[in-house]
Amino acid sequence: MAVKLVAKPGEVEFPKGMEGVIASESKKSYVNGLEGKLYYEGIKIEDLAENSTFEETFFLLLYDRLPTADELEILRRRMVQYRTLPTEVYNLIETVSAGYLAQPMAVMRTAVSMTALFDEAAEEETELAYEREAIKITSRMATIVAAIDRVRRGLPILQPRADLSHAANFLYMMTGEEPDPFYAKVMDVILITHADHGCNASTFTSIVVASTLADMYSAVVGGISSLKGQLHGGANQRVMRMLDEIGSVENAIPWLEDAVAKRKKIMGFGHRVYKAMDPRAIILHEYAKEVTKRAGTERYLEMAEVIEKFMIEKLGRKGIWPNVDFFSGVVMSSMGIDSDLFTPIFAVSRVAGWTSHILEQHTDNRIYRPRFVYVGPATQEYVPMDKR
Ligand code: ACO
Repeated sequence: MAVKLVAKPGEVEFPKGMEGVIASESKKSYVNGLEGKLYYEGIKIEDLAENSTFEETFFLLLYDRLPTADELEILRRRMVQYRTLPTEVYNLIETVSAGYLAQPMAVMRTAVSMTALFDEAAEEETELAYEREAIKITSRMATIVAAIDRVRRGLPILQPRADLSHAANFLYMMTGEEPDPFYAKVMDVILITHADHGCNASTFTSIVVASTLADMYSAVVGGISSLKGQLHGGANQRVMRMLDEIGSVENAIPWLEDAVAKRKKIMGFGHRVYKAMDPRAIILHEYAKEVTKRAGTERYLEMAEVIEKFMIEKLGRKGIWPNVDFFSGVVMSSMGIDSDLFTPIFAVSRVAGWTSHILEQHTDNRIYRPRFVYVGPATQEYVPMDKR
C-alpha cells in the first residue's frame, strides 16, 4: 500500500523519532535493550571494559576483529603519530577557551572542523585515505579536549607523550603528570564503554553525512553536533548539575518526589533502547565506588545511589533505568574533571564508533533520503509583500 505523503496533521501514523526503524545493517555493536546487554562485534562490554584498551577496542570496531599484538602496535603508533594538532588549531583553542569563554563542545566542533583545513588529505576520496583520517581524527580529539582544559585553567598546553597509552596520555595532557595506573585504567574504561552504541543519534547523524560522500571530518563534526544535545551526550553534565542542586543525601528523596510530580525528566535515566539497566552504568557504578573513595567524594556516590534506588522503584516498571551518563559524571568529577568536559570526553570515545560506522557505510553506500508527510497548506498563490 502506498504511503500517504500529503495529509492533515496527525492523520498518518509513523514512529516518531524513527523509533524501531531499521536504518541499515551493521557489524559494529548490538544493544539488547530488554536484557540490558551490549556487545561490540559480539564481545560483551563487560569483557572489553575489564580486559581491553581503547586502542584495541578501536581496532575491533574499525576492522571487525581483535588485533594481533603486531597489528595493535601498528595502530598504536599511527595514533601516536597524529596526536599533535596544527598550530593554528592550538591558536584557536587559546583564543576562544581562555577565561572559560566558549562552551567546550562548541570549541571541539570548531577545532575538528578547522583541523580539516590544515589537513591536505582531508578531501582525498579513497578508502585508504578515509581510514587514515579515521585514525587521525580519533587520535586528535583527545588532544583537543586536553588543550581546552589547560587553556581554561590558565596553564600552558602540553605536547603529547609518545610512550603513554591513549587514555594515559590524555590524562597526562590535562594534568601534566603521568597518571596513576588506576586512573589510566578508569579513563580507558570510560573510553571503551562510550565507544559505540548501535544506531544512536550521533552515529546516525554521522552516517547520514557520510552517505552523501562528504569527507570524514564533516561526518565527525555532524556526530559531535548531535552528541552535544542534552537528550544525548549532554546528559552527563546535567547529572552533576542535578546532584549539586540536590546538595545532600537527605534532600534527594524530597527533590525527586517533587521533580517526578512535576513530570520533570531526570537526567541520566531512560533510554530509547534499554528498558532494563544499562550495562555501562553497572560497570561505571563499580568504578565510582573506588574513585569516590580515593577522592573523598563519597557523598556524590551516596546521593546517586539513593536516586538510583528511588527511580528504579518509581519508574523501573515504565522501563526507565539509569543509563551510561548517570555514573560517568560521578566518576569523572571525582577525578577532578570539570563537568562541561564530560560530553567532549564522551566524543573522544564515540569518535571511534562514528568513524568505524562511516567506513562501514562506505562499503555499501546509499544516500539516506527518507520522506516527510506533508501537512502544510494546500497549493496557494504567492502573495506580494504589499498585499499581505
Ligand atoms: N525521567 C523521567 N521520565 C522519563 C525519563 C527520565 N529521564 N525518560 C523518559 N521518561 C518518560 C517520559 O516522560 C515519557 O513518559 P510519558 O509516556 O508518560 O509521557 C516516557 O518515559 C517515554 O519518554 P520519551 O522521552 O518519549 O522516550 P525517548 O525514547 O524518546 O527518549 C531519552 C529517550 C531521550 C534518553 C529520555 O529517556 C531522556 O530524555 N532521558 C534523560 C536524558 C538522558 O539521560 N539522556 C542520555 C541518554 S543515554 C545517551 O545518549 C548516552
